[in-house]
Amino acid sequence: MSEKIKVAFFDAKDYDMASFDEANSDGRFKIKYFETKLDEDTVKLAKGYDAVCVFVNDTVDAKVVNALYKKDVRLIALRCAGFNNVDAEAAKDKIGVVRVPAYSPYAVAEHAMSLLLTSVRRIHKAYIRTKDFNFSLNGLMGFDLHGKTVGVVGTGKIGRVFIDICRGFGMNVIAYDKFPAKDADFEYVELKEIWKRSDIISFHCPLTEETYHMVDAKSIKSMKKGVVLVNTSRGALIDAEALLDGIRKRHIGAACLDVYEEEADVFFEDRSGHIFEDDTLARLISMPNVIVTSHQAFLTKEALTNIAHTTLNNISEYLETGKCANEVTV
Ligand code: NAI
Repeated sequence: MSEKIKVAFFDAKDYDMASFDEANSDGRFKIKYFETKLDEDTVKLAKGYDAVCVFVNDTVDAKVVNALYKKDVRLIALRCAGFNNVDAEAAKDKIGVVRVPAYSPYAVAEHAMSLLLTSVRRIHKAYIRTKDFNFSLNGLMGFDLHGKTVGVVGTGKIGRVFIDICRGFGMNVIAYDKFPAKDADFEYVELKEIWKRSDIISFHCPLTEETYHMVDAKSIKSMKKGVVLVNTSRGALIDAEALLDGIRKRHIGAACLDVYEEEADVFFEDRSGHIFEDDTLARLISMPNVIVTSHQAFLTKEALTNIAHTTLNNISEYLETGKCANEVTV
């Protein structure tokens, strides 16, 4: 029998272990789950493994890549779509990088719409009130989504599903993408038009040097007063301080955030009962018109099953053939 492929799995959560153990029920892989995230200090744990499996908040910069290479790890397998936390340039010609480009665009797009509906219909407030037998409607007035203009930034797999959902609500869709789709049946506009015309803006593009802080003090100023921002993409698309300022000035009507630029140390962890150190996030969370979920848009049964199967297939394909259809190339 051929030897099992050894995988060091970082930032492991219960739901990861359940879905990966199920996908590995034939025992092809020997998976060691580490609760800790991968970074410069923990990279030593990867010694003796063929591949590391990482998620969005593991740090896989040039130092970590080189340390992995020295330990003869041959593959970095991201169990997510975004790969902004991996220095793919540093990995080039040394160590493979694979990802899961699509596992359920529906999971993320549906979560974006859930956040939007929750926010504009004040469901988060109503839920707490009725739990306390407070049936007052004061302060719960929302607005119709029907007829509103939604600006979608990034029209890839998730953006397209989100557009379909918005159309179901009778919204007018305008979109911006650096690489517009040829088969689009919606209106593409320049980014500045998105800022100017949208009642709601939803982000579905990757985090790159170009998209970093695309929402900053300047772009916020050019947005409609009362605009609702929905970010299920990557936190650093939005300058959190500028967002807070826009909310304080009553220019931004609401923000729905599944991601946050400094999320790495807090998201996915239970911080209740701790002194919370991030003043910006604490202030954002305290705002009545901000909803924060902790990077959970991907978290559906269907998505987790697809992630586990695709990740394990990526690992075996790459290690057995030296290539993989889901390889990250730079
Ligand atoms: P995708 O690759 O199918 O689509 C991304 C789109 O963004 C493409 O159409 C691309 O042309 C466009 N784009 C690239 N650079 C751009 C720029 N500078 N300005 C505007 N558009 C640009 O990716 P997919 O699957 O739709 O995912 C989108 C993003 O959602 C990912 O990059 C990831 O960061 C995020 N994501 C978040 C999850 C969550 O749980 N919150 C889960 C999965 C993905």
